[in-house]
Amino acid sequence: MSEKKVILITGSSKGIGAVLLKSFALKDFDVILNYSKSEKEALTLFNEISVFSNGILKVKADVSDRDQVRDMFNQAVDRFGKVDVLINNAGLNIDDSFLNMTDEKWKKVIDTNLTGTFICSQEFAFHFKGENGHIINIGASTGIRGRKNGVNYCSAKAGVITLTKCLALELAPKIRVNCIIPGLINTEELMTRYNLYDKNNFDNKVNSIPLQRIGTPEDIFKVAYFIINEDTYINGQNIFVNGGDYMG
Ligand SMILES: NC(=O)c1ccc[n+]([C@@H]2O[C@H](COP(=O)([O-])OP(=O)(O)OC[C@H]3O[C@@H](n4cnc5c(N)ncnc54)[C@H](OP(=O)(O)O)[C@@H]3O)[C@@H](O)[C@H]2O)c1
Repeated sequence: MSEKKVILITGSSKGIGAVLLKSFALKDFDVILNYSKSEKEALTLFNEISVFSNGILKVKADVSDRDQVRDMFNQAVDRFGKVDVLINNAGLNIDDSFLNMTDEKWKKVIDTNLTGTFICSQEFAFHFKGENGHIINIGASTGIRGRKNGVNYCSAKAGVITLTKCLALELAPKIRVNCIIPGLINTEELMTRYNLYDKNNFDNKVNSIPLQRIGTPEDIFKVAYFIINEDTYINGQNIFVNGGDYMG
């Protein structure tokens, strides 16, 4: 059994998840890199982390598929003997207006963002044998306030926020469950979707945020690390990391 803390981060081939994975590996955690499609990015990150740590396992698994997720946890336990922390980060947007939203677009986003969080959390809980576990879900403020053209995504994230509270009640005291709600975080996905490579758009966004900057994945890491690493009294909470962009 690994003497280190073992963390599984879903959707960690790119964006926020990739930075979280590398940052936890640098803090001497054993890490499980998960992705569903982006083979090349996953391999690049795997090689990058392998230079300084051999405590890394790479698993291709669709978080919305029960058998694939169960197999991922089995592989993780075979390799490290346990999983102490789960970050449910995998997510995607398939935007469209409410009237044009198809069943397929609705289902794919709900399956990945919400059902994936349910399945991974349950498999984590089934496999967990320790005393001090953590689940951190990644929500979105639009799961509270809504936004145009994102009925599937906002509904899924609303579900993730409520799921967090239910799990925090049922899994305590052995597992604490919290939800980090990022603001605008600089990832390729976000920059492209909001057309923020356009300087005017970017400046307008920055000006609308009280802290006057777009967030970084490292901003999310600092909060996740604090929740996991310190013996805090925090459980079942939404933690906004958004520069004051949205205040709950
Ligand atoms: N960036 C922001 O400003 C922001 C704001 C609020 C909330 N969030 C949330 O933060 C999380 C990460 O966002 P991001 O901007 O880093 O996104 P991203 O760069 O698009 O990365 C998403 C990750 O999820 C993985 N993924 C997607 N579907 C999956 C599935 N079915 N099974 C396993 N992995 C899957 C992707 O890997 P594959 O390509 O291999 O599928 C990728 O590694 C998401 O939950 C997002 O909703 C982001």
